Amino acid sequence: MSQVVSYELKGNVGIISVNNPPVNALAQVVREGILNAVNAAQEDASEAIVLSCAGRTFIAGADITEFGKPPKEPGLPEVLSAIENSTKPVIAAIHGTALGGGFEVALACHYRCAIPSAKVGLPEVKLGLLPGAGGTQRVPRIAGVEAALDMITSGNPIAANKAYGMGLLDQVLESDDLASAAVDYAQKLVAEGAPLKRIRDIAIDPASVAPDFFAAARKRLARRARGQIAQDRIVSCIEAAVELPMDEGLQRERELFRELVTSAESAAMRHIFFAERQAAKIKGLSKDTPTRNIGKVAIIGGGTMGGGIAMCFANVGIPVVLLEINDEALSRGMDIIAKNYGITVKKGKLTEELMAQRIELISGSTDYGDIADVDLVIEAVFENLELKQEIFAKLDNTCKQGAILATNTSYQDVDAIAAATSRPQDVVGMHFFSPANVMKLLEVVRGDKTADDALATAMKIGKKIGKVCALSRVCYGFIGNRMLGGYGREAQMLLLDGCTPEQVDSALERFGMAMGPLAMGDLAGLDVGYKARQARTDLPDDPKLYRMGTLLVEMERYGQKTGAGFYRYDPETRARMNDSEVETLIKQQAQELGIEQREVSDEEILARCFYPLINEGALILEEGIAQRPSDIDVVYVFGYAFPVAKGGPMFYADQVGLKNVYDKICEFRDRYGEQYWRPAPLLQQLAEAGKTFAEWDAERS
Ligand code: 3HC
Ligand code: NAI
Repeated sequence: MSQVVSYELKGNVGIISVNNPPVNALAQVVREGILNAVNAAQEDASEAIVLSCAGRTFIAGADITEFGKPPKEPGLPEVLSAIENSTKPVIAAIHGTALGGGFEVALACHYRCAIPSAKVGLPEVKLGLLPGAGGTQRVPRIAGVEAALDMITSGNPIAANKAYGMGLLDQVLESDDLASAAVDYAQKLVAEGAPLKRIRDIAIDPASVAPDFFAAARKRLARRARGQIAQDRIVSCIEAAVELPMDEGLQRERELFRELVTSAESAAMRHIFFAERQAAKIKGLSKDTPTRNIGKVAIIGGGTMGGGIAMCFANVGIPVVLLEINDEALSRGMDIIAKNYGITVKKGKLTEELMAQRIELISGSTDYGDIADVDLVIEAVFENLELKQEIFAKLDNTCKQGAILATNTSYQDVDAIAAATSRPQDVVGMHFFSPANVMKLLEVVRGDKTADDALATAMKIGKKIGKVCALSRVCYGFIGNRMLGGYGREAQMLLLDGCTPEQVDSALERFGMAMGPLAMGDLAGLDVGYKARQARTDLPDDPKLYRMGTLLVEMERYGQKTGAGFYRYDPETRARMNDSEVETLIKQQAQELGIEQREVSDEEILARCFYPLINEGALILEEGIAQRPSDIDVVYVFGYAFPVAKGGPMFYADQVGLKNVYDKICEFRDRYGEQYWRPAPLLQQLAEAGKTFAEWDAERS
């Protein structure tokens, strides 16, 4: 047998065991090993065959690293046919997560059993793909068309008991000892003379599906898909499962899988899959770097961010003390937390009991004495350096030795905050995104003196509370907010050049951004940016700069909260509406500034908004603020809703071609001046060498 797949006969049961760490992905050697083992089992004394896996999980899918490379024999369909055509029942014994091609292997088996903690799922859509080895044909045959559509278009895993209820599993084993329970189950099937159940033999009655079912599904999914094609192709496959015989359905699935696997969308999403995992790794730190135990946490400041951050810890069972300036502020903070949990309960996403448990974990205080014993403090008070330094000096006097002192600051200098303590090695930035209990990104900011174990602990605890972590060095705005400057600036400049707010936002929304920058400004409050600009002394004295945002704030149009900003908002539904008053104002301002308005193409809108972002990203890489280009992509996809199907700004730039990006920036420089359009030296160097950011990164590592 192969090194990664073993086969042994135990009594009358043949046991195939896959051992391809870390997640038993279906690499070529695994496919070949399973095929050989199934064939061998046909010739021996076994009466049933159990297919199981060693290590932490059942097969978690195809080997994603093989996509985009020439296919290697045997293909997965061939392996599945051998399993399905076995003359002896094959039983999949599942633990961990049977995902994608892994679950498709299980679906080709005659029976599926799992331990209670196992999950099954078809997450291919999250990689811009569809299940390409029969998943779209077999799941509707056993779970029904509607459930199949939900499962495959969401890509979410399903817990064993629920999967059993849906017909996806034949047995949930009572014991957690999978090896022996699966053999017992196999022997029971043999004793009962259980038939060779092949899902392919089930036919779906087309009359059982409403005539407009697929059209309605396409429409619904198109809204959610933000331009991604995978959802649409999944609907086509399930439609084929209803209308075509199994083999033709499989062929249709294969064709559409091939289309997706070679698509730019899937390449981008696979890039993000690996980028997310890579971002968790700190260059120069071994993965065995010791970490500190975090059993109790304190949050200073229970406002917008502090409350959400407290929820993140309570959600994973870690007790939190929320410290506020006075009782009134404290009860306001605690009330907002309770209200937010209440909304989740109302949506049916949390039980009353769990809500009570989580709220119980959050205690309030106005006394620093109550946080002396915590392992981690996260400060989230007003964005003011002196205030933060004062608080860190207090924390230094109060907290036990070894406690990690973190700041959630968006812009302040983490080193200057650390300098207010006698233990800068314990100080780190933990920059959450709003709403903190929802947004996935956590920028972990490494100060000059931050100790390795403090840094490793911040990354580890970030993962534990469900965040995707990316490391940044100290600079104004860190990775994400620093890059955003030019994006917001150009969105407003485009208005003076002749665009309406709707034109700018919808061009970016068609690209895949969840919300255009002007609508986003209205949502966050235009007064927030206005105040931040007032506090800056480094902005150029240019009457065009943020002209419209400033004027709107001076007219008390702060955005959604005042019912009007760049748009007008329906008081009931909050639907955004174009506002002719704003459009007239823009024209007047352009005239006053002597700007001749013109038609602006969508292409220019994308370039004007994204290229400053990419250019700043290049500077950030040169300065070593970000570890790698793919970390910047992770920041933008998980923190700023950059479309995952475009792979993040640096990956997108590589696809556009750095020479094209560089040339366009030079063109804008010649048209609009150097103060906003100065190409980063790294961008120029790579453009001239005909290289990508990814190639540059690979050469350095
Ligand atoms: N192929 C190749 N490598 C994979 C992989 C896969 N399918 N799944 C995980 N890995 C790698 C990760 O990159 C990571 O590598 P690293 O240690 O070098 O960074 C390592 O395995 C461990 O992965 P995680 O850090 O994600 O481990 P977790 O324990 O947190 O999660 C998991 C495990 C839930 C299995 C998660 O890895 C996962 O969701 N994997 C992807 C599952 C998936 O998408 N499967 C479908 C693939 S497409 C397919 O099957 C097509 C078919 O229909 C034909
Ligand atoms: P906020 O104004 O909503 O809340 C700040 C809270 O701190 C208030 O409840 C206030 O009573 C409390 N506070 C002030 N002084 C205090 C003290 N001495 N001791 C204890 N509590 C005190 O502010 P928000 O938006 O939550 O921001 C907090 C921090 O998080 C800032 O540094 C901000 O830059 C950062 N941040 C904000 C984001 C956002 O979108 N709002 C996103 C990411 C970071």
